[in-house]
Amino acid sequence: MQQLSVPSLVERSPSMTGAEIAESLIPPRQFEPSTLENYVPDPDYPSQARAVERVRAFAAGWNGSRGLFSKRPPETKPGLYLDGGFGVGKTHLLAALWKLAPGRTVFGTFIEYTDLVGALGYAATLKLLGGASFIAIDEFELDDPGDTMMMTRLLGELAAGGTRMAATSNTPPNALGEGRFAAVDFLREIQGLSDRFEIVKIDGLDYRHRDVESHAVALDDAEYAAAITGASAHGTVTADPFDVVLRHLATVHPSRYVKLVDGMAAVGIEGVRVLHDQTDALRFVALVDRLYDEQVHVFATGVPLDRVFGDEMLAGGYRKKYLRAISRLIALTSPEPGAL
Ligand SMILES: Nc1ncnc2c1ncn2[C@@H]1O[C@H](COP(=O)(O)OP(=O)(O)OP(=O)(O)O)[C@@H](O)[C@H]1O
Ligand SMILES: [Mg+2]
Repeated sequence: MQQLSVPSLVERSPSMTGAEIAESLIPPRQFEPSTLENYVPDPDYPSQARAVERVRAFAAGWNGSRGLFSKRPPETKPGLYLDGGFGVGKTHLLAALWKLAPGRTVFGTFIEYTDLVGALGYAATLKLLGGASFIAIDEFELDDPGDTMMMTRLLGELAAGGTRMAATSNTPPNALGEGRFAAVDFLREIQGLSDRFEIVKIDGLDYRHRDVESHAVALDDAEYAAAITGASAHGTVTADPFDVVLRHLATVHPSRYVKLVDGMAAVGIEGVRVLHDQTDALRFVALVDRLYDEQVHVFATGVPLDRVFGDEMLAGGYRKKYLRAISRLIALTSPEPGAL
């Protein structure tokens, strides 16, 4: 393959201070337009219309509220947990709710919060977040018991101070396939907090592909070179062999991937192959998540990216994570501008 005159992803080795992480605690750019009004419930899945109604009821708790001890409608708990499959609009609804909250609000993924604690320490994080009216936790993870316990404690202390909160589900290990047990696991793991959360189940199809059975686009070498050159006229583009990307990901903490892809227009990946190593696969998933949040287009050659995870990966405990990454990769490699 000809050498392309664009930078390599490997040249980007970001670090972030606690203050920078704190500043980044807002919804990803792609959810800026998300509101309750532009969430279109699928009539085939009544849980979607009901989810909108419950989010609305939760937000109504702020109407007329003044301070910590104001009355909220008795039917709403201080926490909401949106539990469902991928692409059903959980993050959309979470971002919409975040916008409706008054006062100081915080939005982040579970990983961003654990990283904040890692960077600042527990007490400083509690001080920083304390007194917020609302905290949104996207993709609540139950993979690491230590992190789950720390987060449960943090949320408990914030709740005691009057902060209301909402979270969305992620995939607990071994919750094969449907993520059916996610809500049960969540309640069990957050123990003392569980009676504070209302569980809202959202069923449905992946909104990103409601209409078509799509596949990730793989380019040939000439198409790839043309795509990279074309995109580099519009912003920062990198181009690297797939294995070089994987090796670089191993040297950067996943919580920093957000900075790795920050401000990029597109990423080029050459010679994609099927992954059989779970660590590589999970790191690649974390990269895909950040690319998706930032809406960075992906150009790739080799195996189409919807086939990047080996069958044994897809049959394992992280199945839902991989399927979601595939869904996102189909959107990110799509040539249609409207598809992202
Ligand atoms: N019912 C809907 N009406 C309008 N837009 C929707 C709907 N459902 C999802 N979307 C849009 O589809 C995209 C995917 O939704 P979102 O990311 O919120 O899903 P999710 O359930 O959080 O998925 P994931 O499991 O990937 O985190 C977003 O751009 C969102 O705005
Ligand atoms: Mg989401």
